[in-house]
Amino acid sequence: METATANVPLQRRNAVLRKETVLLHKKGPLVEGKKISPEWLPLDPNEGHLTSNSCDLSSENNSSHLNDTGLKSFLFYELKSITNNFDDQTVSAGGNKIGEGGFGVVYKGCINGQTVAVKKLTALADISIEELKKQFEQEIKIMAKCQHENLVELLGFSNDFDQPCLVYDYMPKGSLLDRLACLDNSSPIPWETRCNIAYGTSNGISFLHENNHIHRDVKSANILLTETFVPKLSDFGLARASVRFTHTILTDRIVGTAAYMAPEALRGEITPKSDIFSFGVVLLEIITGLSPMDENRDPQLLLSIKEEIEDEEKTIEDYVDKKISNLNITSIEHMYSIASPCLHEKKNRRPDIERVKEHLKEMLIE
Ligand SMILES: Nc1ncnc2c1ncn2[C@@H]1O[C@H](COP(=O)(O)OP(=O)(O)OP(=O)(O)O)[C@@H](O)[C@H]1O
Ligand SMILES: [Mg+2]
Repeated sequence: METATANVPLQRRNAVLRKETVLLHKKGPLVEGKKISPEWLPLDPNEGHLTSNSCDLSSENNSSHLNDTGLKSFLFYELKSITNNFDDQTVSAGGNKIGEGGFGVVYKGCINGQTVAVKKLTALADISIEELKKQFEQEIKIMAKCQHENLVELLGFSNDFDQPCLVYDYMPKGSLLDRLACLDNSSPIPWETRCNIAYGTSNGISFLHENNHIHRDVKSANILLTETFVPKLSDFGLARASVRFTHTILTDRIVGTAAYMAPEALRGEITPKSDIFSFGVVLLEIITGLSPMDENRDPQLLLSIKEEIEDEEKTIEDYVDKKISNLNITSIEHMYSIASPCLHEKKNRRPDIERVKEHLKEMLIE
């Protein structure tokens, strides 16, 4: 069976997965030097450089307090203390580690009665600590402006040590990726909730796009869930922020990201339409409950099921997540009809996020 998908053969994606992973995280220089159009630069063009009244951490080394970003500036040792010395045992084993990604490790902690998630960034860099910190500060200023009901709230940061940290609001239901896989014996997500998650996520992407910001790492691991399953996109500033720190890191997590990437994104082009493609893969995950990439599956890439369906080898019904109770096949077909154009190989043939959002909203009142 031919598994070429979205004009990018599986071998090419596998090449990216195995040999060229380094390129995947050379995102920052691409923004600066390549095809991105000026209107898709950071939220406020004036934010490109730190000014003298921006977060000057050198004067904040006595205690944590609010700075002009509205974010709290912590000292590294304070975050170390609230995470039990960055305890690497998992939370389920009585430690503090929640998870790990391409940019570092995430720990659970508590500050003044509020549960938080502390992401300790891995600083592997061929650049000076000063340059690294400057980049980091620029990015947190952007992230501080991204406040929306469907974006994870960044509460604060620390930058007084070689390993910068980000402090986020803690999301008790973890990631959509883990909940779709029913990790830790969690119950399958009902269909109605899946529709709400799809709509809420599109609302978060829409906010970013309206504000001239491309996420560039839309995936179910970056969709976190509140106690009541409200979806919140995470890492919307980090893809760019971390490039200088992480471009030599090769992890399975980064590898996984290639399974969401649009053909033009694999070629290094940066456009909001690549977020739409990645969101299309997330919609397939919501429908099927399948992971975006599985080496022991045929097809390995989840997005290849679109071709099978187009070639009438299969129908979406064949792929529906059997764990969904009260299955409504019409509604599932409706969501697939929204996902399919998002996955068009030609970026200009994909809908924009406003259109996707409108369609997903219609599903809520069906
Ligand atoms: N604010 C948060 N609240 C609760 N859990 C979180 C939070 N942030 C991250 N996590 C958990 O930590 C895991 C690792 O997150 P992390 O962002 O480091 O990696 P990732 O999303 O898998 O990959 P990437 O590095 O590409 O973003 C997530 O999958 C999620 O389960
Ligand atoms: Mg993440």
